[in-house]
Amino acid sequence: MPTTSLDAATITIGGDLTVRRIGFGAMQLTGDQVWGEYPDHDGGIALLRHVVDSGVTFIDTADVYGPHSNEQLIREALHPYPADLVIATKGGFVRGGHDYSTLGAVGNPNYLRQSVHMSLRRLGLERIDLYYLHSGTATDAPFDEQVGVLAELKSQGLIRHIGLSNVTVEQFEAAREIVEISALTANYNLGTRVGSAHLAAAERAGVVFSPWGPTRFNGPNVENIRKAVDGIARRHGATPHQVALTWHLHRSPNTLPIPGTRTISHVDANNAASRLVLSADEVRQLTDLTPERLEANT
Ligand SMILES: NC(=O)c1ccc[n+]([C@@H]2O[C@H](COP(=O)([O-])OP(=O)(O)OC[C@H]3O[C@@H](n4cnc5c(N)ncnc54)[C@H](OP(=O)(O)O)[C@@H]3O)[C@@H](O)[C@H]2O)c1
Repeated sequence: MPTTSLDAATITIGGDLTVRRIGFGAMQLTGDQVWGEYPDHDGGIALLRHVVDSGVTFIDTADVYGPHSNEQLIREALHPYPADLVIATKGGFVRGGHDYSTLGAVGNPNYLRQSVHMSLRRLGLERIDLYYLHSGTATDAPFDEQVGVLAELKSQGLIRHIGLSNVTVEQFEAAREIVEISALTANYNLGTRVGSAHLAAAERAGVVFSPWGPTRFNGPNVENIRKAVDGIARRHGATPHQVALTWHLHRSPNTLPIPGTRTISHVDANNAASRLVLSADEVRQLTDLTPERLEANT
């Protein structure tokens, strides 16, 4: 059950992992097209250390970011980890080269087992606090079998909590019949509501919903979004990215956004968004900028 504290600054994953509600998405600390090493290695190390020093306690990564180099950078910057730091990683995607279109999903049970073992090694952990199946689209093994592998690894103590990324709501419900699912992540922001049904499902199930790409300003209505966000930001003496993040926090008590940035001052700005308070009217205005896609399922 995600429990949100009264000041809404923290959220609890799987009943026992309490983290600050504004996390950090590490994906951008890779090369072009999320391929290869982050070119500014020392800057990446400094940024990750600043993320933790600034009070962030939840970092989102994946074995496919790089691949591998993102997890390795996190370990180099932060190991041994602070006791309250939760690192969420993911497995089930592979890359065939620099071109992002080579991204593909793999569900082979031994591949997934290997992925968990390799993430443990790269991150220098004995147990991964939150491990996401990165995608529900692999066709080389039944979805139930893939979830079963994660359940098995959880029972072996290698995974603490299981999450699902980019699955359908039906897959989420099917997975919950197999093992406890503690988090869902999907693309959801002011201009993109791919994750509307997932957010609703997470609320029904009482699990954490982590919107990815939380501060991207895109979609067909981007000009109106910019205008509305700029107006609200001016009123509060805030930045548009802060307004976007605060909207997520108000949107649902289940929400744990994971903004990504390569800029140290933006880490601080994003954290400060948890202190911003929008009116109910402003939240509604932002929500209504893009239709929710409750009927959609991907
Ligand atoms: N599960 C999945 O399939 C999936 C897919 C995509 C992403 N993710 C996760 O979601 C995380 C976030 O996604 P994302 O990085 O693509 O999108 P994002 O966090 O919504 O946006 C990143 C962009 O916003 C800018 N930005 C961030 N904070 C800012 C601020 N305070 N002021 C001005 N600009 C700011 C960044 O530029 P600067 O660097 O200049 O700040 C960057 O260009 C990723 O890191 C990854 O961990 C998961």
